[in-house]
Amino acid sequence: MSKTFYLTTPLYYVNDVPHVGHTYTTVIADAVVRYRRMCGDDVSFLTGTDEHGLKIERSARQQGIEPQELVDTYAAEFRETWERLGLSFDEFIRTTQERHYRAVAKLFRAVKRSGNVYLGQYQGNYCVGCEAYVAEGRNCPDCGRPTEFMTEDSYFFKLSAFQEKLLRFYRENPDFVVPRSRMNEVVRFVEGGLQDLSISRTSFRWGIPVPDDEKHIFYVWFDALTGYISGMGYGTDDEKFETWWPVDVHLIGKDILRFHAVYWPAFLMAAGLAPPKRILSHGWWTIEGEKMSKSKGNFVTAAELSNVVQTDYFRYFLLREIPLGSDGNFSFDGLRTRVNSDLVNDLGNLSQRTLKMIRSYFGGVIPKGGSADERGRELRDFCSETARLYRERFGDLQINKAVEAVWELISRVNKYLVVNEPWILAKDPNRRAQLGSVLYHAAEALRLIAVMLGPIVPEGAASIMNQLGIHRPLEGNRISSLEWAGLESGSTIGKLSHIYPRLDKKEFRVKVKNRRAPGAAAAAAGAEPKKTAAGGQEDARIDIKEFAKVRMQVARIVSAESIPKSTRLLKLKVDLGSEVRQVVAGIAGQYSPESLPGRLVVIVTNLKPAKLMGVESNGMIVAASDGGKPVLATFTEEVRLGSVLT
Ligand code: MSP
Repeated sequence: MSKTFYLTTPLYYVNDVPHVGHTYTTVIADAVVRYRRMCGDDVSFLTGTDEHGLKIERSARQQGIEPQELVDTYAAEFRETWERLGLSFDEFIRTTQERHYRAVAKLFRAVKRSGNVYLGQYQGNYCVGCEAYVAEGRNCPDCGRPTEFMTEDSYFFKLSAFQEKLLRFYRENPDFVVPRSRMNEVVRFVEGGLQDLSISRTSFRWGIPVPDDEKHIFYVWFDALTGYISGMGYGTDDEKFETWWPVDVHLIGKDILRFHAVYWPAFLMAAGLAPPKRILSHGWWTIEGEKMSKSKGNFVTAAELSNVVQTDYFRYFLLREIPLGSDGNFSFDGLRTRVNSDLVNDLGNLSQRTLKMIRSYFGGVIPKGGSADERGRELRDFCSETARLYRERFGDLQINKAVEAVWELISRVNKYLVVNEPWILAKDPNRRAQLGSVLYHAAEALRLIAVMLGPIVPEGAASIMNQLGIHRPLEGNRISSLEWAGLESGSTIGKLSHIYPRLDKKEFRVKVKNRRAPGAAAAAAGAEPKKTAAGGQEDARIDIKEFAKVRMQVARIVSAESIPKSTRLLKLKVDLGSEVRQVVAGIAGQYSPESLPGRLVVIVTNLKPAKLMGVESNGMIVAASDGGKPVLATFTEEVRLGSVLT
């Protein structure tokens, strides 16, 4: 039987759209599970959403909708984003699902039975405006208003009773938290003494009720952490749970380490369940040197990333740029430079030149490897050493180091071609066997490189495999295919193409600038960057004639309805004064159909008709994209329907 491997990302809060930080966690998880699948493991990759809590309740209230409606929209956004980016999760758990409620109740009962829960009083500084306890200080860190000292009934978990048990567990499992520096942080924190933990609230309602005392709802962390077991059958499917628990790796950011490395194992120990095997805590990305924030305008969403570049490009950048555990700086320029130098130049060129020579000199048939000369043997040894390092490092979750090893091999093969000069050998018919051997060695090394890069840049790796004439799906490549001579002499290569287009500096900057507009990628792909009068710098400005081509008119929404099977689209009828038109808009996440009739909106009326999910759309509604979330443009004064915006 194959070994099971279970890995999780955190369950993302649904008060935001997926951004580059979430994408980072999920991309690492995806790379690790792809590697484990390659090792032949039976893998389960769980991700999901953390949907309860005061913030959600309040934000829904502000928007005049039910919390459930709000979380449905964001959860769908997360799920669809990960699917669109090809991130290969197996389970998606939502903390509002029935199976999750059952698991939380079961865990609580088990912890209570063990004698580790008691009813007490929670005291702290409370901000009435925000309806939240604040960690410290007399003023609320969110709104700045003075706080009040408050007391409420709360269930407590006897965390203090777990100090010794946890310390023993850390001693016996010194690699429980990776990297080691973070393990030390956790140990120091626990050595400093543990306070009992309040695990229920009575001051708001958007949460899971405590069994037998429904005045209380669970504290969000008790609720959310349980997602790691509720998604794997705890409380609903014992066999599934037995198969997968304990988890092999919880992948998290450094900010939520304490919850995972202290509270979570203690809850599990209390319930008689095994703690996680390993917690991998990664660092944080700043954006252009600063903490990412919407107000600073440096917020980069997952949708924007994929508007600007193909998935392999940002996967590679995120995985290669920083060692797991360290912080890093994300910049679009850094991404472009990295991609052009590594993927386009190093890997792209190696693949192109090797395959082109096989096509020109051997009619596309893979030549015989023959008996290798000294240089050939060296290259083989280098390949097997790289494969060894790659496995060792990936096994230790040092992904960027594993990728570095592959890049050393790429540059070694490029050098191998330079010193062997196959283009010179090709001129001498007596050296045909030698020419074949050199190209076989280069092509076989290229195959090994593609296998190793499968978990990192799946699209490019699959393309190299196809061009080598190996048509089995990438997932079919087991770690055993890292043995030398997997490439069959006499087989025919596939159709050649460039795997990775170069990112042109000017075009790319335009794309980055326009990334927030829906459809930015398409618009920018055809955009010709213009010079400014002042200084030759590219910009995205247009002249008035171009603007005048777009006809925008005032309209009033007459009716709105959902489109079956679509979570994003609504079908609208809009009155333009002289006619009523049908328009399809991707706003279902933010606007319920009932809330729309009567609203004044702006419609682009001279767009060619298009079909979305089979429904004809005759125009486009104008909306701002606020971090990926549409906000409809409107008027505060009366205005005649059909008026043209100029
Ligand atoms: N809901 C909790 C997790 C509960 S797990 C049972 C939560 N959610 S979160 O959406 O705020 O964060 C999810 C993950 O995204 C965390 O691991 C966090 O570290 C990561 N990141 C958020 N911003 C980040 C960066 N700027 N850079 C890297 N990762 C960051 O916490």
